[in-house]
Amino acid sequence: MTTDGMLALHRLRAGRPGSVPLVLLHGFPLDHRMWLDVTDLLPGDPTVLAVDLPGFGVSPIGEDVAEALGGQGPSIEVMADGVAATLRGAGVTRVVVAGLSMGGYVAMAFAERHADLLAGLALLDTRSGADADAARDNRLRIADAVLAEDSVEPVLGMRTTLLGATSRVTRPDLVEHLETWIGDQGPRGVAWAQRAMAARPDRTAVLREVTCPALVLVGEQDEIAPPEAAGVMAEALGCEVVVVPRAGHMTPIENPEPVAAALSGLLHRAGG
Ligand code: MLT
Repeated sequence: MTTDGMLALHRLRAGRPGSVPLVLLHGFPLDHRMWLDVTDLLPGDPTVLAVDLPGFGVSPIGEDVAEALGGQGPSIEVMADGVAATLRGAGVTRVVVAGLSMGGYVAMAFAERHADLLAGLALLDTRSGADADAARDNRLRIADAVLAEDSVEPVLGMRTTLLGATSRVTRPDLVEHLETWIGDQGPRGVAWAQRAMAARPDRTAVLREVTCPALVLVGEQDEIAPPEAAGVMAEALGCEVVVVPRAGHMTPIENPEPVAAALSGLLHRAGG
């Protein structure tokens, strides 16, 4: 299949005409639905857009996005360029970008490559460093397994590991949501994204060059991108860390109220 490289852009809230939109980038291996709770809780009248990253939700697969945009893949850079091309194609010229985990890797690449579009940056439950060798090898092994089995079964265990210790015990509904969302993704998209994440560079230095308002947020029980990783990003950006209680890696579904409050504060600072 060929594509023009445009990604699925979901308008979750219409907002005030002329306001700077909040653009939400989901984590792996999910899609824009992980942002619905937070979107409902945002106070005021913000414009909220959510992207399905390449190979997830209803977006074209990464290989096709890379080919259409003339990019090298699998890579986080192709994902960031796809987001930028999609926003420009929709006539959007300034955005506050918020990315969780893989979405955060994409948000950092977006800040590096499309700074002209960036009015604010939120990094949630993510890290600016590259993978250690063992983590990279594990990603490539999972990518191979997903393709060999033609199934997302090798990543289905993330329905529990993405959650914090509290949610694992008290929120079986969230395990069910994650199982559904992960099960809806395609093996090719999952494999491509694992290879893209494995190839990503350290972008801590990129954060030191960011001049727009910024936010770093992390679940206090996040074992995948722990509070120490948030501290590194906040130090580079020169901002505080918001620590979300009773939440692991999936702060927007585990404890959406403080996430919505923090994003709303950033939007306000960025003129949204
Ligand atoms: C995610 O939530 O996007 C993943 O945990 C990212 C990763 O595997 O590094």
